[in-house]
Amino acid sequence: MKIASIPLAPGAALAPMAGFTDAACRDMAVRHGAAYTVSEMVSAKALTFGDKKSAQLIRCKPNGAPYGVQLFGAEPETMGQAARLIQHYDYDFIDINMGCPAPKITSSGAGSRLLLDPALCGRIVAAVVEASDGRPVTVKMRAGWDGDHITAVETAKACEAAGAALIAVHGRTREQMYIPGTVDWSVIAAVKAAVSVPVLGNGDITTADEARAMMEATGCDGVMVGRGALGNPWLFGEIAAMLKGEPAPPPPTLRQRMEELRRQVYEMCENKGEWVAMPQARSQAIHYMKGLRGAAALRAECSRLEHFPDIDRLIEKIWQENS
Ligand SMILES: Cc1cc2nc3c(=O)[nH]c(=O)nc-3n(C[C@H](O)[C@H](O)[C@H](O)COP(=O)(O)O)c2cc1C
Repeated sequence: MKIASIPLAPGAALAPMAGFTDAACRDMAVRHGAAYTVSEMVSAKALTFGDKKSAQLIRCKPNGAPYGVQLFGAEPETMGQAARLIQHYDYDFIDINMGCPAPKITSSGAGSRLLLDPALCGRIVAAVVEASDGRPVTVKMRAGWDGDHITAVETAKACEAAGAALIAVHGRTREQMYIPGTVDWSVIAAVKAAVSVPVLGNGDITTADEARAMMEATGCDGVMVGRGALGNPWLFGEIAAMLKGEPAPPPPTLRQRMEELRRQVYEMCENKGEWVAMPQARSQAIHYMKGLRGAAALRAECSRLEHFPDIDRLIEKIWQENS
């Protein structure tokens, strides 16, 4: 599969997740076999105002797989202007957010709200394509706004006609938020049938078998995984092995899991300083506690992480409870 001229290794893409998919998370995903990664969503408007925090979200060290910057916004001109402003950054493609359900985003007309106006989506893609300096432009969308407005197919066609190189479809409407069991594979299949650019399916994939089932049922070209990879980057290796027809790799040992947690938090602190990194590390660490003995108490411990050495104390407690 290719994004325009970028060759991708067989594997799942890491879904953009605000507050989670920072440079440390993206590097980890790629080390484990992610086909590509995307930044946290970045406000196009904030970039045009010169907001430094937004620009920091884009910064990355090259990690060996294609990397996309995700922009959100509702106006073609602002989106194009933002794409121009970030041209000097080191990234491979621009992704456009057409899926965020958060009221603070949709109230400005951005994110999943765009799905009510497929023609506007096309104009946004066209503006970003024109400003993207030849780099591919991809789109990440939901199925639609609500049950009465399932517009993914129409939107995908408008985006493809405007030059989008790949479309990722989260098979839920905005109304469905993240309600378990509501991912509609038929919408992913309908988008795949309607466009000729690669389509990635997204939503609730937590194992290689689920990835295979989604690909077989929908015909999609690959999958994008988000929450299933938090605390479990080995999922990328499992999916890559499945796609290459290789045997599934052995599950990680407890030691490997703890080493990965420590490395991720260390890199977060290196990249953005302990003060910014540690509150975010709490939510990342909680995902590594899954399946451990004493998980409830360990999760509470995660929420108290304040300084980097606290990670070592947490790991020590995990050993005491689980070895
Ligand atoms: C905490 C969180 C933050 C998210 N942030 C973004 C984002 O910045 N941009 C985006 O397009 N989607 C975002 N999403 C949606 C995910 O990319 C993905 O579509 C969704 O979680 C479904 O996939 P999953 O079941 O594999 O997690 C976010 C999801 C979560 C849970």
